[in-house]
Amino acid sequence: MSLSLEIAATADSATTNKTANPPEGLGIASGQGVQATLAALTQAFGEPFALVDVESGDLVYSDYEGLSCDFYDRMELLAEVSRRGTPEIVEEVAPLTMLAIPLHGLGVGANLVAIGVFVNQQISSEEEMSAAARAFGIDVGRALRWATGKTLWPSAVLQRMAETALENLTQRQQLHRLESEVAEANAHTDDIYAELDLLHRLTGQLHLSESEQELWRNALSWLAGTIPAQCLGIVLRRATEGEVADSEVAEDNLADWEVLTEGECPVERDELCELIRRFGPTSLRQPVLLNRAETTLPTWHCPTIRELVCVPIEGGKQPRGWLLALNHRGSDQASFGEFGSVEIQLLSSVGTILGIHNSNLGLYQEQSQLFASSVQALTSAIDAKDRYTSGHSNRVAYFSVSLAERLGLGKADRDTIYLAGLLHDIGKIGIDDQLLNKPGQLTPEEYEQIKLHPQLGYEILKGVRQLDKVLPMVLHHHEAWDGSGYPHGLEATETPRMARIMAVADAFDAMSSDRPYRKGMPDEKIDAIFRAGAGSQWDPEVVDAFFEIRDEIRRIAEVSSCQASLECEIAVS
Ligand SMILES: [Fe+2]
Ligand SMILES: [Fe+2]
Repeated sequence: MSLSLEIAATADSATTNKTANPPEGLGIASGQGVQATLAALTQAFGEPFALVDVESGDLVYSDYEGLSCDFYDRMELLAEVSRRGTPEIVEEVAPLTMLAIPLHGLGVGANLVAIGVFVNQQISSEEEMSAAARAFGIDVGRALRWATGKTLWPSAVLQRMAETALENLTQRQQLHRLESEVAEANAHTDDIYAELDLLHRLTGQLHLSESEQELWRNALSWLAGTIPAQCLGIVLRRATEGEVADSEVAEDNLADWEVLTEGECPVERDELCELIRRFGPTSLRQPVLLNRAETTLPTWHCPTIRELVCVPIEGGKQPRGWLLALNHRGSDQASFGEFGSVEIQLLSSVGTILGIHNSNLGLYQEQSQLFASSVQALTSAIDAKDRYTSGHSNRVAYFSVSLAERLGLGKADRDTIYLAGLLHDIGKIGIDDQLLNKPGQLTPEEYEQIKLHPQLGYEILKGVRQLDKVLPMVLHHHEAWDGSGYPHGLEATETPRMARIMAVADAFDAMSSDRPYRKGMPDEKIDAIFRAGAGSQWDPEVVDAFFEIRDEIRRIAEVSSCQASLECEIAVS
């Protein structure tokens, strides 16, 4: 077996030799692969290096051309150099020196050794080269041509230079590794920050979204800004009662599934649903990750999908649906972006939050319905007690909502004022029935009794946490703009705005409804009273709003029953 190191025979070498001075630095590139390491050594010494694997005995790499230098007999020695881990001169026959530098500490190969051949003194005759050429296994003539003009490296200088070079390379390699770790940590931190930011926005939106659909849409939109996918999607099964076995998903009618997408979906809706179902029961509760290793197989049936992540949206004991990312944006014919653990983690986190929210929503709706039924029962109790004003609470609730909407109040405030309208006279439960149903005019003393009902209502409801927001309207719906009202005689804007709105709604129903001692007033008279009372009895802004939607309010009043069950969504906060 013969292995050889090719030594360049430079025909155009300089004609005079030079003494070597160790350079100040190696100027090593940041990449520390084999090529970069050899390039750094070549730059430091001004000579090419070859690379041998002392384990296999192979010549791994060589910059040399022309002359052959047989080093097979030195393999044992080179292996020893590799074991010791320090550079050594492994052959020295004037005027040539062979230097070996072990590289296993640089992370480029456990058994690699770099080998260089150097001229160590002036060459005055061919005879001087003969002994060295024989020892190195080189043709004398070619060795002379190669050596002419080479930099001279005395052995001691060469040894020191090699030790310095190896130390420098080791430090650069460590620095490079640290830089890579920092870059990786930074990238990981960026991923974590992006995930936390998205989850923070999502959880904040859970309470603000006016509908489940809006929440799904927002989740997709935000995910699209974080995950580099051609398309993000949510596939929802039809909401069902009770627990559903995983196997039943296979029986679902896919036409019932709802599909929402953000971006350009690479498949049709039905194909997407069928794809999820074909993943099988495992995918119902476990993430599915497919990249090109899988989608280029002949068995893959969706050629327009190159990469895919699919995670379940848990819905209590059953999967509510799935979140999907389709086709990595960095993946086209020229590149191969892939999805991985980052995308799975992010989608899974979002899927978990949406799933929990979905489960809570069911409980929330049940609670809301129970609460609405309780309020309706209380409202019926009030109206039953005062038979002449039957339906009054419902009508005041509807009028108040119309006025609030006209005045620009948001949905949450409109829900609150609706609830307050239903309950505003709850204090009448504590007033004597005979007073409430007295057919004639009340005496001043009787009127004082009636005036207690706002305070009584406040006392009845104040312990109910869900009704905290309606308390100001229950207490202050009989205050007047000029301070002449009750129970506290508040003036103008001292009275909460929604209570001022309710005061107008309450007065309109009182004037327009039939009472035991009179028929309901005609529209003209009511209008005149409101005009006269704007700025004294009532908030002029609310009276203006009343005139702007007067026809709408009268249409509501004309609906004879006005006993409809709660149609507005009642916020339980
Ligand atoms: Fe009242
Ligand atoms: Fe009232």
